[in-house]
Amino acid sequence: MDASTLTSLVSELSALTATYVPSIGHDAPSQASKAALLNLTRKIQHSLMDPAMMVQAHSLQMAEMVSVRTLLDLKVFEKMPTDESQRITAKGLSEQSGVQQALLERLLRPLVASGFITQSADGSYGSTKFSQAYISFPGLFFTLMFDHFLQPMTDLPKYLAKHGTVEPTSFYVNPYSDYHNASDSELTTWEIMSKDPEKLKTFQIGLTTGDAMVPATGYYDFNQLALTEEELEKDPDRVSLVDIGGGVGNVVKRVLGEYKTLKPEHVVLEDLESIIEMAKKEETVPEGVRMLKHDFWTEQPVKGAKAYYFRRVFHDYSDELCVKLLKQVIPAMTGPDSRVLVADMLLPEIMTTKEAHTAALDIACMVMGGKERTEEDFRRLFQSVGLEVVAIHRAPGVAAGLVEGTLKS
Ligand SMILES: C[S@@+](CC[C@H](N)C(=O)[O-])C[C@H]1O[C@@H](n2cnc3c(N)ncnc32)[C@H](O)[C@@H]1O
Repeated sequence: MDASTLTSLVSELSALTATYVPSIGHDAPSQASKAALLNLTRKIQHSLMDPAMMVQAHSLQMAEMVSVRTLLDLKVFEKMPTDESQRITAKGLSEQSGVQQALLERLLRPLVASGFITQSADGSYGSTKFSQAYISFPGLFFTLMFDHFLQPMTDLPKYLAKHGTVEPTSFYVNPYSDYHNASDSELTTWEIMSKDPEKLKTFQIGLTTGDAMVPATGYYDFNQLALTEEELEKDPDRVSLVDIGGGVGNVVKRVLGEYKTLKPEHVVLEDLESIIEMAKKEETVPEGVRMLKHDFWTEQPVKGAKAYYFRRVFHDYSDELCVKLLKQVIPAMTGPDSRVLVADMLLPEIMTTKEAHTAALDIACMVMGGKERTEEDFRRLFQSVGLEVVAIHRAPGVAAGLVEGTLKS
């Protein structure tokens, strides 16, 4: 890149800093201004890099991920001072963590190189906002991504060479099942996962930390599903909302907590037997909500509900399987205002660097034979089973939304 192009990019960056909205939160304006600045800094960085430097950057990312995962496991970040101005020597860290000093120094080197931790001129180490935060929330999601998705992802070329160069769509034969040598076993991803209770636990804990990616509330008015006296007079058993594959009830709890006209006794939570038993035992479901053991590959038993809701379910499955899910619900949509609600991440039609996260999660879903979708993908999917998308409610500040569909009139 010539010097004048660099100068002009740097001036552009300098001008853009005037739009920066400082905030430590995740509010939309601050996120948008951060994204624009990061986008431009990345452009400057890329224009300065020659292709060999990209290889070096990728190699560092690989080493960084392995080091982070290993050091999380060895609980090393927890032994570092939380005050960034304080330091700890390799010897001190080795004594506190019980990890051999030579091994520690090698694992920490890529993290100093990437800026995940710092190292002073005297060789001692310091933590950063990243290494500190990884001890809890983002670290749990990182662990989920690493343990469940990265390992099968690295074998994707091998998987495609064996099964053909088409997107994996099966729930039984996919990169996840191949990685676990279970492609001939007819076991689903969840069944394979359940064989290793520790891994199942990292998945479940990590998943709850990822809740903010598809917010449960705040962009769809669930109050509109409340039943009027007139409606109840006509049909006293009518249901407002069926949360299909609703887990242990986190979402119905949030919805009922925020949308007060909706009554718990008009809400049904459905999931597999083991999950409903868990919900009952742990008492995670608000009082009054009906809990139903139901396999969503079979016909929906609750007829005429105002809404059949799937949150973070569709992205686990291919289009073909989502069609099957919808076909189990459609015969139950006998109410005059019955609708299907699907909440998931929404991929952009045209990819930009701002949407990096959705692209990464889509590849993670591919590992299990699922996929993230664009608004258009959802419209096509609904259309193919005779449903019409009447609205797409976008969640503010995140790449997610709720697709609302009714039977075509
Ligand atoms: C990714 S979780 C989403 C949970 C919840 N909707 C949420 O957003 O937090 C997928 C859910 O689908 C449930 N599930 C998987 N297979 C199912 C089946 N055949 N019938 C009913 N539920 C199922 C799982 O038990 C799990 O609770």
